[in-house]
Amino acid sequence: MLVPHLDKAKRRTKNEVKVRKYKMAKDLKNLGLGKSYFIKTYGCQMNVHDSENIKAILEDMSFKEAESMEVADLILLNTCAIRENAHNKVFGMIGRLKHMKEERPNLITGICGCMAQEEIVVDEILKKYSFLDVVFGTHNIDELPEILNKAIHNKKIEVDVYSCEGDIIEDMPVKRDSKYKAWVNIMYGCDKFCTYCIVPYTRGKQRSRRFEDIIKEVQSLKEEGYKEVTLLGQNVNAYGKDLGLEYDMGDLLEAVAKTGVERVRFVTSHHWDFTDKMIEVIGKYPNIMPYIHLPLQSGSNRILKLMGRRYTKESYLELFDKIKRLVPNVSITTDIIVGFPGESEEDFLDTLEVVKACKYDSAFTFIFSPREGTPAAKMKDDTPLSVKEERLHRLNELVNKYALEANQKYLGKVVPVLLENVSEKNSDMLAGYTDTMKLVNVKASKEKLGEIVLVKITDVKTWSMDGEIA
Ligand code: 5AD
Ligand code: SF4
Repeated sequence: MLVPHLDKAKRRTKNEVKVRKYKMAKDLKNLGLGKSYFIKTYGCQMNVHDSENIKAILEDMSFKEAESMEVADLILLNTCAIRENAHNKVFGMIGRLKHMKEERPNLITGICGCMAQEEIVVDEILKKYSFLDVVFGTHNIDELPEILNKAIHNKKIEVDVYSCEGDIIEDMPVKRDSKYKAWVNIMYGCDKFCTYCIVPYTRGKQRSRRFEDIIKEVQSLKEEGYKEVTLLGQNVNAYGKDLGLEYDMGDLLEAVAKTGVERVRFVTSHHWDFTDKMIEVIGKYPNIMPYIHLPLQSGSNRILKLMGRRYTKESYLELFDKIKRLVPNVSITTDIIVGFPGESEEDFLDTLEVVKACKYDSAFTFIFSPREGTPAAKMKDDTPLSVKEERLHRLNELVNKYALEANQKYLGKVVPVLLENVSEKNSDMLAGYTDTMKLVNVKASKEKLGEIVLVKITDVKTWSMDGEIA
């Protein structure tokens, strides 16, 4: 049993990050023979991609993917710790797993992902939910075969979570959800320690993948016919800083663009390391999509300081304007937190001012959620929840107004869309995204799936558009 410790997770070791190749013990190849698995994924794209790795590892062990939880022999919850509601949803689901296990005693259940990295979560699991079979973290996905094997043989909960970062594992098997779009990790972890954020504890020290390994992966994806790659990291602009080498995110983006893959995206950006070189490269290569997610978090300098964001409203606006000026047709979205401890009405109005100045294409907005172990969780917070909710409501009204206005500019225009699946709202339509990351439902036959087509926009709403092939 290896349980996570918050104090250790906070520390940053000077240990050199090793790069290893994935290898599975041959004698575990048949552990899942005749059994099926189901993974429920919560949270960000990083978790979605981790689940793609976990699926492939399970299939390497001869498990087959199940249609639903109800018929699976193994259920894993890949969890998110970012806000309390994600946390609560997972505990609700763990309660459901308990019932399923009572009905199906041979069911194997487990949790992994960011919540598994939290000391308080694992404590609670050991106290109240020890019917679970496996708990493993974000740093040892590659050890899943051994962990499962131990749990099955010992017939008791197997907890294996490292508090500190692990090695970088190359050549991890992957079962991608899409045949057209692929996630590519370029770095793991985060060293920014924004005061509200749990990620630096659950994902550990920043570790960049080697330049050549990333390019090799993108090249082979292109050869396999993938149309779009999204470079993933908590903080992609800081790519390479931990390697102490000359190249940075600007160089990486340029090299990825030069592979010729049709669409290149990246998430998430932090203002801090957004260099002029990056902006120049994004503007220069037509296959780097003109779409940037640039979290603001707050428009008040006082709150930004308390958040540890290390930029001001003025420098954010300067960067925003520069990107708008130098990247033709760019769309920019953001993340905003309301109700950070001590946020006054005046601070909140500063945030609204920035939203009015930026007129974002869209924004994800959240009420501050205290996360155990982070500095902000200890800050005095005397704003009533009702006030925070009312601020969120006002913010959303403004955000939605600009989102609709941004979409209205597309009406009648012809734009490129990668058709990636059947539309959720109408099975006669296909859905996909523009280069600027706008969701479009398109009247088109299924043969067009996986193609980048020119679409004439015929109707726009706040969250999506309709169109027909031009
Ligand atoms: N409370 C509310 N929102 C948070 N985020 C991160 N941590 C918290 C928290 N403790 C938001 C930030 C971040 C996004 C992924 O989630 O806006 O950019
Ligand atoms: Fe969290 Fe800040 Fe790192 Fe983003 S940059 S993951 S908000 S600590």
